[in-house]
Amino acid sequence: MKILVVGSGGREHALCRALARDPAVGSLVCAPGNAGTAELAQPHPLDVTDPDAVADLAEAVQAELTIIGPEIPLVAGAADKLRASGQRCFGPTAAAARLEGSKAFAKNVMRAAGVPTASSRDHTEVEPALSDLDEFGPPYVVKYDGLAAGKGVTVTADRQAAVRAVHACLRNPGDRVVIEEYLDGPEVSLFAIVTEAGAVIPLLPAQDHKRVGDGDAGPNTGGMGAYAPLPWVPHGLSTQVVQTVIQPTVDEMARRGTPFHGLLYAGLALTSRGVRVIEFNVRFGDPEIQAILALLSSPLTGVLTGQQAPVWRSGAAVTVVVAAAGYPRAPRVGDPISGLAAASALTGVDILHAGTRRDTDGRIVSSGGRVLCVTAIGSHLEAARGSAYEAVSRISLAGAHYRTDIGDPGRLGYSGPPAVRPTS
Ligand code: AMP
Ligand code: GLY
Repeated sequence: MKILVVGSGGREHALCRALARDPAVGSLVCAPGNAGTAELAQPHPLDVTDPDAVADLAEAVQAELTIIGPEIPLVAGAADKLRASGQRCFGPTAAAARLEGSKAFAKNVMRAAGVPTASSRDHTEVEPALSDLDEFGPPYVVKYDGLAAGKGVTVTADRQAAVRAVHACLRNPGDRVVIEEYLDGPEVSLFAIVTEAGAVIPLLPAQDHKRVGDGDAGPNTGGMGAYAPLPWVPHGLSTQVVQTVIQPTVDEMARRGTPFHGLLYAGLALTSRGVRVIEFNVRFGDPEIQAILALLSSPLTGVLTGQQAPVWRSGAAVTVVVAAAGYPRAPRVGDPISGLAAASALTGVDILHAGTRRDTDGRIVSSGGRVLCVTAIGSHLEAARGSAYEAVSRISLAGAHYRTDIGDPGRLGYSGPPAVRPTS
């Protein structure tokens, strides 16, 4: 089978890795891809925001299945274009991708489906939004309604900062802001594949580390690292979340005539009052999927189509993101990276590329904020962590930074509820 993977980050490199070891896969194209995916998959220029361009490329390369990595093409309707031209695709339609594209829409679906989430209200005007801030009280949670690449959320105990966030969310006509109740407790990412036939297949629970600094300090990022599985979550959590969150949401979307197929990502808080949904995403989470796929031993195409149940290796996987100088505010690009061969020579280590490209001299250089996702498996979490950080220490990238507490049993959110820290 020939497969097109759309995207250019660590998630897409992880997908290519898993597909490359799947016996059903004959050849791979990754568009636009990065320096890492180019080792496994033919690269191709692509404007991922243009649904016609995605469908045209799938046709031109004769892809038998297109897997769409990022949310932007999904929300823009790339899956609709592919299906309309008779092509197979993994990813929801634009109507179903609104679960990620609009937080207000997702809340509406959750309310209708009885899915437990933070209570919330959305507004297009500043005054009622400010009065809701006071009604919900601190810590304040202010969200931009649309896609914001993980940067549209402010969680703060400082009312002035919350007021500024409301104004920032309502800058342009048509903008909408969501004010919601603060959820305490550690966060869990649970991904479920929803097949064309409507089967719901949960993957291993994972945890992302979203803040830039150790101990969850500093601003939110796209994700600084992840690990799976989570030894501390209650037994049966996946089954419970499928029953109370994923299945009711899938049923509600079908009832509305906009069925969801693809990957439904539930961002959860395990609060003192039970599991609550923080947000839905409609694609694999990055970097959680890097850790999850490192543990998948069954063929990925069989799992995505529902023909094979996921089988997991025992042990654990850890992914440490190596970020560029200045990330997340103003990442510097174009710095050469060395030590990749020495790092990937370590047992159980896989260096997944996120923001990399080859320069005109053939050197691998940084090309984005998150540069590498250093992933390691081990017989247990500490072993995987040790290998991942040993690999990181072998890599040189000027000005790079990374968190040193990914998957650390002592860190906040691992063993207890996180403290409130302002996002801005
Ligand atoms: P989101 O983009 O909705 O996932 O939000 C980004 C991050 O903000 C989440 O991973 C949480 O850490 C935090 N967050 C979002 N909503 C809430 C909430 N209602 N209560 C507490 N923290 C939240
Ligand atoms: N890991 C966070 C995200 O993919 O949105």
